Amino acid sequence: MSDESILSLENESIDSWETLIFLYTSALKEVGTKIDILNDEFQHIHKYNPIEHVKSRIKKPESIVKKLRRNGYESTLENMVRYVNDIAGIRITCSFTSDIYRIADMIAKQSDLRILSLKDYIKNPKASGYQSYHMIITVPIFLSDQVVDTKVEVQIRTVAQDFWASLEHKIYYKFEGNAPAYISQELRDCAKIVANLDARMLSLNEAIQSLDAEDKTAAKAGKQE
Ligand code: GTP
Ligand code: MG
Repeated sequence: MSDESILSLENESIDSWETLIFLYTSALKEVGTKIDILNDEFQHIHKYNPIEHVKSRIKKPESIVKKLRRNGYESTLENMVRYVNDIAGIRITCSFTSDIYRIADMIAKQSDLRILSLKDYIKNPKASGYQSYHMIITVPIFLSDQVVDTKVEVQIRTVAQDFWASLEHKIYYKFEGNAPAYISQELRDCAKIVANLDARMLSLNEAIQSLDAEDKTAAKAGKQE
């Protein structure tokens, strides 16, 4: 995709709030289908389903305006497109941390998608303790007379990381960001437990898979005798 399509998105082709939301909704459909296909193919080849569930959402107008204001921008359509990267958001919850990288890699390899940024909060957790893998990508939306590259934020995390993030969000919301120090510390400790749990589940899964492989080899050898 040329840079022109992104420029046209920022300058002319978005002439109303409705057009903007239409583009982001289309982008969620496109990326959602891609993820479904990857998951189905994976199930087909490896007899294993790396994705537990997928959730997508369009950011609420008031949250878009709030984010722009927080960052010192006026609420114009152009600023929304340029500065708010998560108007269209998709969250992929998977089983093991290894699945996260596998899925991220499969997304990154798709030739029609462009990666604008990657943030690995698993290798480098946030100060809060938050862990997830974030990608900002663009997906081409084919309209009758033009192609518009549209941004989507993809968050990929394990079930355990999702559990932590959901509860942390609930707890923190109550304090409006000013939680007492011991609560923040407790949440960071819980995040460490989550990381440990994920690591143990992953090695358990690897151990089970190698047992399976040994069984299959033994069964084959048995047949040949
Ligand atoms: P935002 O302005 O919050 O979008 O942050 P950002 O532009 O710096 O992007 P970042 O990749 O850090 O975070 C994007 C999204 O990740 C947020 O909108 C949340 O959904 C999620 N997130 C980031 N940090 C935290 C956290 O500490 N706790 C929880 N529960 N979610 C988080
Ligand atoms: Mg956000």
